[in-house]
Amino acid sequence: PVGTRYEAENAVISQGAVENNHTGYTGTGFVNLDNVAGSYLQWTVTAPGASLATLTFRYANGTTANRPMDVTVNGSLIADELAFAPTVNWDDWDTQTITGVRLPAGGSTVRATSTTSNGGPNLDHLEVQVVPLTPVDYQ
Ligand code: GCU
Repeated sequence: PVGTRYEAENAVISQGAVENNHTGYTGTGFVNLDNVAGSYLQWTVTAPGASLATLTFRYANGTTANRPMDVTVNGSLIADELAFAPTVNWDDWDTQTITGVRLPAGGSTVRATSTTSNGGPNLDHLEVQVVPLTPVDYQ
């Protein structure tokens, strides 16, 4: 499977900001979503053809409480209150993964929305690994 990384700082941000005041992020920073339900990040990801994909979110949550998020793909809910468990601190990053996500050929929107008044975790990037659904000829 081919993996592609989409940085959070290049995504569409609703109620949040790109920051770099914690260490260990990839790219040029991370997104700090506002501490409100409904704050979200939305990426446009690309699949070469109809695919099954694994979505891996890299995040930090330096609190002691889960920061759940709803994840939609092209408007359909694929993960309800996906857990983003505490990390050691805001400089410590972990990943949360969703497998078996169907993507059509071309661009798809992946949106992660905070579901509690604590908002989301700090998000660093989304990595997408696609497995084509149709056979490929090798020669
Ligand atoms: C701290 C931390 C931020 C984080 C915020 C939060 O202020 O420095 O990076 O986003 O907590 O609780 O969401």
